[in-house]
Amino acid sequence: MSTNTVESTPLPGEELDAAKMPGHWLLARMGKRVLRPGGIELTRLLLQGLEITPAKTVVELAPGLGATARLTMLSNPAHYIGVERDEAAAQRVARMLRGEQDRYVVGSAVATGLDAESADIVYVEAMLSMQTATEKSRIVAEAFRVLRPGGLFGIHELGLQPDTLADEIKDAIRMELSNAIHIGARPLTLSEWAEVLHAGGFDVEAPRQRTAPMHLLEPRRVVQDEGLLGAMRIAANLLRMSDARRRVLQMRRVFRRYADHLCAVALIASKPVATPTIPAAIDK
Ligand SMILES: C[S@@+](CC[C@H](N)C(=O)[O-])C[C@H]1O[C@@H](n2cnc3c(N)ncnc32)[C@H](O)[C@@H]1O
Repeated sequence: MSTNTVESTPLPGEELDAAKMPGHWLLARMGKRVLRPGGIELTRLLLQGLEITPAKTVVELAPGLGATARLTMLSNPAHYIGVERDEAAAQRVARMLRGEQDRYVVGSAVATGLDAESADIVYVEAMLSMQTATEKSRIVAEAFRVLRPGGLFGIHELGLQPDTLADEIKDAIRMELSNAIHIGARPLTLSEWAEVLHAGGFDVEAPRQRTAPMHLLEPRRVVQDEGLLGAMRIAANLLRMSDARRRVLQMRRVFRRYADHLCAVALIASKPVATPTIPAAIDK
C-alpha cells in the first residue's frame, strides 16, 4: 500500500489501549472521521456563516483528522493554517495542504505562535468542550489576538440545554460523560458559550447561534457523516473488536440517557472593529 496517502498515515492514539484511550481517538480507530457533536451538517452551516472566500486567511484550531479542513479548502481560502496538539493528527492534516500557501502548527491552541491580527477567520470544533474554564478563556483570548478587527470566530461544541438547566444535572452529565470518553468533558449551555466569547472581547449576535441534536453515535447521523460505506466499515470494526464495542456502547448509553439535555451548538462571533480615534477638535 502507498505510504503517501492521508489514510495510510498513522492514526492518533494508535499505541493506546482501547479500554482506556480518549473516546475521540477510539472512534477514529473504528473508522470515524467526523468527531464533532453536530456532525457534518452543523459544520456546513458554520462554514457558510464564516464566509470563507479566496481573499481570506483561515486558522483552524484542533483540526483532528482534517474532515473540516477538506471542506474549508473547497472554498479556496488564500491561506489555511491548522493548529493541532496531536502530532499524528497534525501529520494527517499536513498531507491535505494545497501547497506553500498553507501550513500547520503542532502545538496548543493556547499559544499558536501565529502573528497578531494575521487571520480573517478562526474556528474550532469539539475541542473547547474538553477544556477547563481557564483553558477555554485562554484559547478564546488567543483566537482574539490572532484575528484582525472585524474577523470572525466560529465554534462548534457540545452544549447543554435548556439555559436554565439545574446545576446538579449539569454536574451529573459532565461526570458521566467524562467517565465514558475518558477525558474531561465540560459542555456549556448556549448562553454560557456566548458569555465565554463575549468575556473574551467578541461581539456575539443571536442570529449567528444554532443548535442541533447530539446524535454523534446514532446510526442515521453516522451514515450522514461517514457515508454508507464508512458506516458499514465502522459497524464491521465494532463487531470485530469487543473492547472498543463496549466503550462505544457505553458512550452511546450516556448520550441517550441525557439526550434531552445534550446538544451541539454552533456560534459565530466577531472581533469588534477598533473604535476610530476621534481627532482633536480643530480651532477655527
Ligand atoms: C474531539 S477531537 C475533534 C477534532 C476535529 N475538530 C473534529 O471535529 O473532527 C479534539 C481535537 O482537539 C485536539 N486538541 C485538544 N486540545 C488541544 C489544544 N489545546 N490545542 C490544539 N489542539 C487540541 C485533539 O488533539 C483532537 O484533535
